Amino acid sequence: EETAGHRIDSHTVLYGVIGDPIRHSKSPIMMNRAFRETGVNGVYAAYHITSDKLADFIGGVRAMGIRGVNVTIPHKLDIMKHMDAIDPGAEAIGAVNTIVNDNGRLTGYNTDGIGYVRSLKEEAEPAIAGKRIVVIGAGGASRGIVYALAGEKPASITIANRTEDRARELAQSFSSLAELRAVTYDGLQEACRDADIVINTTSVGMHPHTDASPVEAGWLKQDAVASDLIYNPLKTKFLQQAEQAGCRIHGGLGMFIYQGAYAFEYWTGQTAPVAAMRETVLASLI
Ligand code: ATR
Repeated sequence: EETAGHRIDSHTVLYGVIGDPIRHSKSPIMMNRAFRETGVNGVYAAYHITSDKLADFIGGVRAMGIRGVNVTIPHKLDIMKHMDAIDPGAEAIGAVNTIVNDNGRLTGYNTDGIGYVRSLKEEAEPAIAGKRIVVIGAGGASRGIVYALAGEKPASITIANRTEDRARELAQSFSSLAELRAVTYDGLQEACRDADIVINTTSVGMHPHTDASPVEAGWLKQDAVASDLIYNPLKTKFLQQAEQAGCRIHGGLGMFIYQGAYAFEYWTGQTAPVAAMRETVLASLI
C-alpha cells in the first residue's frame, strides 16, 4: 500500500499504542503523519490489549521486534515490571507511557510530564523559573506534570485535590526537587489569588460535562496563565472564564502532541514534525 511519501514494504518497522479502551486514540493518525512527513519507514497501529494479555503482548513486542510502543490507560503502571530498564524520570513518576525496543532490550520512559512542560513553554509561558504554580488534582497525570515542573525551578508548586491525602502524598514525594505544598479544596481560591500559572489536571470540564469548572470565575489574577490538560473540548469552561478575565490560556492538545513528539524522537532520533502532527490531530477533532 502506498500513500504520498509512505511505502510499506519488507523493511517497514512496527510501532503502536496499547490500552483498554483504545479505539478512540488519536495517536495512530498523529504518528503515521509524522512518519510520512519525515520519510521514516514505519507504521503505527492501535492494539486493544486487556490486562490479562499484557505479558503476551510484551512477548509479541520482543518476537516481532516492534520498535516503539505508547502505553495508555490502564497499563502505565503494570507495564513497568516487563521492562529491562526504566528511565529515572519514569521511575520517579511511577508510570511508563513510552517503550523503546533496542534489539530486544526494552526501556520504559514517561513523556507525559516533559511533553506538558514543552507545550506550556512553546505555547503559553516560556519562563517557568520563579513562577508560583497551582496544580489542581493529584492523580496520575498530575504526578508526571508536577515532577517535570519541579525540574524547572519554579518559586513554588501548590497542589489542591478533592481528596487532600493524595495531594499531601504527591507534594511529599517530590519535596526534595522544589518548594511543594498541599492544600485542601477550601484553600484553592486563596492559592489562585497570587498564582502565575493554574493548571487543571482533573477531568472536571471534560466532554460531556462541559459546564463544570474546577475554579470559579474571577479567582485568577489578570495576567496569570490558565492551563487545562483537557482537549475535548479544546476550550473548557475553565479556560473560557479565564480568557474573559484577561488571563492567557493554554489547552491540553499541546501536551498530547508533545508527549508524542518526544516518543517519536526517542524512537527515530529525528526531530518530530510537530506542526504537521498538530494539524492532523486538530483536523480529526473538528
Ligand atoms: P489521571 O490519570 O487523569 O490523573 P486519576 O489518577 O484517576 O486520573 O486522577 C483523577 C484526578 O481527578 C484526581 O485528582 C481526582 O481527585 P480525587 O483524588 O479526589 O479522586 C480528580 N477528580 C476526578 N473527578 C473529580 C471531580 N468530580 N471533582 C474533583 N476532582 C475530581
